Amino acid sequence: MEYARLGEHTRCVRAGERLDRTVGGVTTPIHTAAAYMAAPDVDGAYRYPRYNNIPTQLAPAEKLAALEGAEAAIVLASGMAAISSSLLAVLGAGDHLVLQADLYGGTHRFLLAELTRLGIGYTCVPDADAASLEAAVTEKTRAVYIETPSNPLLRIVDLEAVAAMARRRGLVSIIDNTFASPINQRPLDFDFDIVVHSGTKYLNGHSDLNCGAVATSRALMAAVRERAVNFGQTLNTYDCYLLERGMKTLALRMAKHNDNAMAVARFLAGRKGVAVVHYPGLATHPGHETAKRQMRGFGGMLSFELDCAPQAARTFMDRLELALEAVSLGGVETLACFPAVTSHAKMTREARLAMGVSDTLVRFSAGCEDAADIIADLGQALDAAGIA
Ligand SMILES: Cc1ncc(COP(=O)(O)O)c(C=O)c1O
Repeated sequence: MEYARLGEHTRCVRAGERLDRTVGGVTTPIHTAAAYMAAPDVDGAYRYPRYNNIPTQLAPAEKLAALEGAEAAIVLASGMAAISSSLLAVLGAGDHLVLQADLYGGTHRFLLAELTRLGIGYTCVPDADAASLEAAVTEKTRAVYIETPSNPLLRIVDLEAVAAMARRRGLVSIIDNTFASPINQRPLDFDFDIVVHSGTKYLNGHSDLNCGAVATSRALMAAVRERAVNFGQTLNTYDCYLLERGMKTLALRMAKHNDNAMAVARFLAGRKGVAVVHYPGLATHPGHETAKRQMRGFGGMLSFELDCAPQAARTFMDRLELALEAVSLGGVETLACFPAVTSHAKMTREARLAMGVSDTLVRFSAGCEDAADIIADLGQALDAAGIA
């Protein structure tokens, strides 16, 4: 079936499936074999789990390709596997990379610890508009990398402008689309070259799996696949099964995440004791107009800064009952955390504050529970902490 023409709920449920007609089951079976007698399949390679070409791996990969509108996709062992294989697919010793500064902390660690060791230079740009990113481009620059909405401040970068700049300057454009998911944002439609995901988050959606994914053109995928195979970034067959199952409800879940986050953002924006709410769906958000142009939903993530001492913020977190204090995001259960002591804990306090990540900034992943229950929980915790 030609899934690209069908609706996105249909693509979530059916695209990529590898049904076993011999027994007639309606789900892709978990193929446990690590050795296959069949003839060469993907890219002429024999089936082998590390080559990422066994049916259980191909099913969620093709589902993602159908959702992102990509020629090719691959599922990998983690979001960091997706990020590292994509960056190393396009960069080599002596090359230079331009990035948005406001990125997931693990990506920063990869730059510092790995790119530097490999002799790859990079520049992080605080204001990630196309002109500022372009100003950092040198004759050695090969790629530009962004994350929008960004973690944890939900900053919005103009996809069309950055992709056009990259095309003009001959750069490969890469985006971490984890926060939006392909349901809310399809960067390839805006001419981006490579989309990476932490599939641990919305793609799987049930907080029970660590995985990643890349979606891109066939030509670029050859280089990404080569890195993933050589570095052994395989996603095991059982996790592929879970990922494919999770993705079947991605569009359904994202609709609920979007609605819940919007309701929570509106509640917090009207609540005393909340200094600022970062959510691209609010008209007050600086990236709102751009987000409206490039996103079909504003997502399930928001962050907000409490107008109180760190101790009161701690009490607020302790008093949450429905929302669980945990790192990670994008699951059906509502999660909250302080980026200052989690994702950004390795930064100096000064650098963190300069980025806008204060001690009382709360990152909030609105789950799929009832919005009224999430809001009531937030309200009672704010009251209990005396934040008003
Ligand atoms: C935006 C973003 N990208 C990438 C990653 C890394 O993903 P993983 O932990 O699956 O390697 C994370 C993890 O939190 C993330 O939030």
